[in-house]
Amino acid sequence: MKYILYSTLIIIFTTLIISGCRHDDGRVGEHYYRTDMHEQPSYKPQESPRDPVEGTIPVTGYVMEIRDSLMADRLENPLSRNPENAELGRRLYNIHCGMCHGSGGKGDGTVAPVFQTPPDITQGRFLNVTDGYLYWVIRDGAGIMPAYYEHVRSNERWLIVNHIRSLQQE
Ligand code: HEC
Repeated sequence: MKYILYSTLIIIFTTLIISGCRHDDGRVGEHYYRTDMHEQPSYKPQESPRDPVEGTIPVTGYVMEIRDSLMADRLENPLSRNPENAELGRRLYNIHCGMCHGSGGKGDGTVAPVFQTPPDITQGRFLNVTDGYLYWVIRDGAGIMPAYYEHVRSNERWLIVNHIRSLQQE
């Protein structure tokens, strides 16, 4: 009788010990019966920040992704060319681009000899690139040319694009 009692107790204890060693994440199914410090809303290392709430737009606005020239080609130039914005485009071009590309776009700006001579953007393949492509080059740079997204705003880029078109026709 004693023997049966002892062996039953041993079996019960062994079962409890083994089940105690099992990984316990503090829940049964979807229900938590215990929350530990690791169950908290703070970011874990390497965890990406939370997605914004659906349907919201950051106050800074979205930066449109332009991964390659094909995507750039699909951009539509929203600005028409008229004498008023032509003057604005010329001024912006001279401020941001002229020192390297030259006021006529021939690649003969004052900085060109000490930096790297830029291509003549008034001829050759630049006659065939889309407005979107030029916009993309201004925003994200090209080769050694720096990106100007911080200095030249979206509508200013289109003004400059239109000015390059005027230079190409001169
Ligand atoms: C600091 C000098 C510098 C400034 C400022 C600069 N560029 Fe450039 N740009 C270059 C150089 C150098 C290249 C050639 C890059 C290369 O091939 O690695 C180039 C290339 C280009 C190209 C040809 C890209 C291609 O497809 O090969 C275009 C178009 C262009 N620039 C437009 C502009 C416009 C518009 C601005 C003004 C917003 C501007 N750049 C400002 C130096 C400059």
